[in-house]
Amino acid sequence: MNVAEPEIRPEAAASSPQSRAIQPLAIGPLSVDPPVLQAPMAGYTNYAYRQVVREFGGAGLLATEMIAARSATWLETHRGEHPDRLWGVREEPRPLAVQMWDNDPDNLAAVGRRLAKDFQVSVVDLNFGCPVRQVTEKAHSGSWLLRDPDRVGHIVRRVVEACDGVPVTAKIRLGCADSCRTGVEVAQRIEEAGASCLTVHGRVAAQFFKGEADWSAIAEVKRSVSRLPVVGNGDIDSAEKAVKRLRESGVDGIMVAREALARPWIFSQIAAVLRGEPCPPDPSLAEQYELVMHHYELVCSRFGIERGTLLMRKFACAYAQGLPGARDFRGQVSRVTTREEFLTVMRTTFPGRSPPSTTTSSGQ
Ligand SMILES: Cc1cc2nc3c(=O)[nH]c(=O)nc-3n(C[C@H](O)[C@H](O)[C@H](O)COP(=O)(O)O)c2cc1C
Repeated sequence: MNVAEPEIRPEAAASSPQSRAIQPLAIGPLSVDPPVLQAPMAGYTNYAYRQVVREFGGAGLLATEMIAARSATWLETHRGEHPDRLWGVREEPRPLAVQMWDNDPDNLAAVGRRLAKDFQVSVVDLNFGCPVRQVTEKAHSGSWLLRDPDRVGHIVRRVVEACDGVPVTAKIRLGCADSCRTGVEVAQRIEEAGASCLTVHGRVAAQFFKGEADWSAIAEVKRSVSRLPVVGNGDIDSAEKAVKRLRESGVDGIMVAREALARPWIFSQIAAVLRGEPCPPDPSLAEQYELVMHHYELVCSRFGIERGTLLMRKFACAYAQGLPGARDFRGQVSRVTTREEFLTVMRTTFPGRSPPSTTTSSGQ
């Protein structure tokens, strides 16, 4: 384990924020335009969600949920089928990044090669940021690996070799904990290993999602590398903030996660503001209602009505976030078990819907 103070390269510092024109993000041969990325989110960013994001437009690169490279054997033995986490990946429009996690360079190289050659994905992304115990303590993967920058470099080099020209990227946090802020050194190993882009979530793993993302630390990581494009991530919840972060931190792109679960149209708003246009308004509540129904049909088309309805509960809750009446809606939708119940709750309590009028006797 080597966590020595790394060198910062001052010449790589960002140019003056106001003068900085926003350029497309180059990930190897891929031009990500606008340089605005939809974050991978386990349990959420499946084909149905990506399709919704794609229909609104504005995201330059979409990403799957993370897949476990240990399922490499599954990929080999079930050539015709796809596990749920690869739903849509073979057919859907590009560009598309698939993220995977593991700590074994051979496993990651084998799955990376399959994704690059067989699935022809645009980008193979490696997860070095996941703070969840199943992945860290139990599998010594995700953010666990940030304590060993050399191992991260070794993994990235093996996957780059295996993917044979398909760009390999990595996503990290600032370190495992405040006592282990290895982000700069990890970024430098990732650059040396031949990665095409690095995303930095501005928290340490021990924080999970607590506190504010540290954008000055993201900017420091950016300044510490010379050629590697860096994407900043953390707490972007509006088009204005996205543009401010892009201009002020010196990063080459930005990534949005949680806010885009509630407002998947945020990418189109960011794209408009980057083009110098006014920020388009959010869809009306009636349009948002239609969107949730559309998302529901997409989910059911893969998982069937029973499982699709259960899965849709969390998406519906996410959509309602911040809307008037959300509390009531969430309380009800998180208990639905059948299509009929889902439709009734949507019709009666989705924000903006009024409860069914109780027919009162008008005989007097
Ligand atoms: C439910 C959920 C699942 C996530 N799953 C992943 C994942 O599979 N891979 C990953 O790299 N990051 C994952 N993240 C982290 C996000 O990609 C992102 O780094 C983090 O949420 C900070 O961005 P935000 O402030 O825009 O939400 C997940 C986050 C959430 C909330």
